[in-house]
Amino acid sequence: MAGPDKAASPKGLLGWIEERLPILAFTKAHTSEYYAPRNFNFWYYFGSLAMLVLVNQIVTGIWLTMNYKPSAAEAFHSIEYMMRDVDWGWLIRYMHSTGASLFFVVVYLHMFRGLMYGSYRKPRELLWVIGMFIYLVLMAEAFMGYVLPWGQMSGWGAQVIISLFGAIPWIGEGLVEFIRGDYLISDATLNRFFALHVIALPLVLLLLVVLHLGALHTVGSNNPDGVEIKQGPKGNRWSSEAPSDGIPFHPYYTVKDIVGVGFFLIIAAFIIFFEPTFGGLFLEKDNFVPYDPLVTPEHIVPVWYFTPYYAMLRLVPDKLLGVIVMFAAIAVLFLLPWLDRGKVRSWRYRGTAFKIALGLFALSFVWLGKIGGGPGTDAAETVIGRLLTVVYFGYFVFLWVYTHFGFERTKAVPERVTTHD
Ligand code: HEM
Repeated sequence: MAGPDKAASPKGLLGWIEERLPILAFTKAHTSEYYAPRNFNFWYYFGSLAMLVLVNQIVTGIWLTMNYKPSAAEAFHSIEYMMRDVDWGWLIRYMHSTGASLFFVVVYLHMFRGLMYGSYRKPRELLWVIGMFIYLVLMAEAFMGYVLPWGQMSGWGAQVIISLFGAIPWIGEGLVEFIRGDYLISDATLNRFFALHVIALPLVLLLLVVLHLGALHTVGSNNPDGVEIKQGPKGNRWSSEAPSDGIPFHPYYTVKDIVGVGFFLIIAAFIIFFEPTFGGLFLEKDNFVPYDPLVTPEHIVPVWYFTPYYAMLRLVPDKLLGVIVMFAAIAVLFLLPWLDRGKVRSWRYRGTAFKIALGLFALSFVWLGKIGGGPGTDAAETVIGRLLTVVYFGYFVFLWVYTHFGFERTKAVPERVTTHD
């Protein structure tokens, strides 16, 4: 069996740098000498796509900042100016706004893959928890970004979300004032959100993504079979040390990921050029009207990626309880690695009840999203929404009971990963 490529170390300037800071060796260790399971499928596109969108958000964000004015008096008009008068300003703005929504599409699919294949299970608990922190920061980042255009939905959305903290006993009111930086949503609020959106949170996000990848490369990727390739036989055509079911990330998965990027860019370009508001889902109609604290929009609803949680908030009659349920819906995801004690990882080999439960869980999330995006006045929808909230939380209770007390009937897991070729 041939060993890993032992190319001569670089000479000249590159060699000089390499001796002092082994960038090339590091890159190699994490690309052509990093062995990933050979059975990745469609669901494994979304991690690299999330990185692509992150880069897009940072680059277009920098360009937007060149013309954006973070002040209540000028913000809205600075964006209109960009859309009409700045060369390619409309493109940069739509790349950023579409990118925000696509970020959540990609991340939700990325997370769902984790649920299907049990990627959060030992030894990937920390990888999952870091992912959950990324998700939290991403939500804060998107929320603050949406306030910046200072349209009606920016101001009123901020008003609704910030006032939620007011439900916390004792400190609520003070906290709301502290977040707003004023007695009402104002210039001070906009300015601090700008600082957090363009600097603080992106830095945290980048750091978390580095840690996420560090954790991933420490334990190695899971795969659609949930088989641990490091525990299988060793030795393949590239290295006698590597897992037999592993293939070098580069060039095999770099090439695969480029295919995903190609499809993704076609879809993204279609939206950016032909349907940038996505029928009011990606950019709400009310946000094309400047913020007016004296005129409340007919329906205040957040952007689609928040609506499942928003629905839960509205469906609980008590404000504090609603806030608790909403935050619990996110918090419970952190606990997944410890709730699931199933004998196998991937849903391919799990019991039928697990598959039904996961399907219902996904359905509840999407349906709640639809309800949360509506006016919230329909009585039948309120009943359905409450049931769906029970289904959402029910998934976690079910998972715990089902796997802790040995109810699950699993299928035999193959010893090696399976492929269709
Ligand atoms: C900025 C956002 C994110 C980026 C750039 C990112 C990046 C990546 C990449 C490149 C991979 C390896 C390729 C792949 O498995 O698709 C990965 C794997 C993984 N990510 Fe993320 N991720 C992000 C958010 C999240 C979130 C929000 C979660 C969950 C809460 C998460 C959980 C995981 C898990 C469990 C794996 C291992 C999956 C497996 O091996 O089956 N990630 N991530």
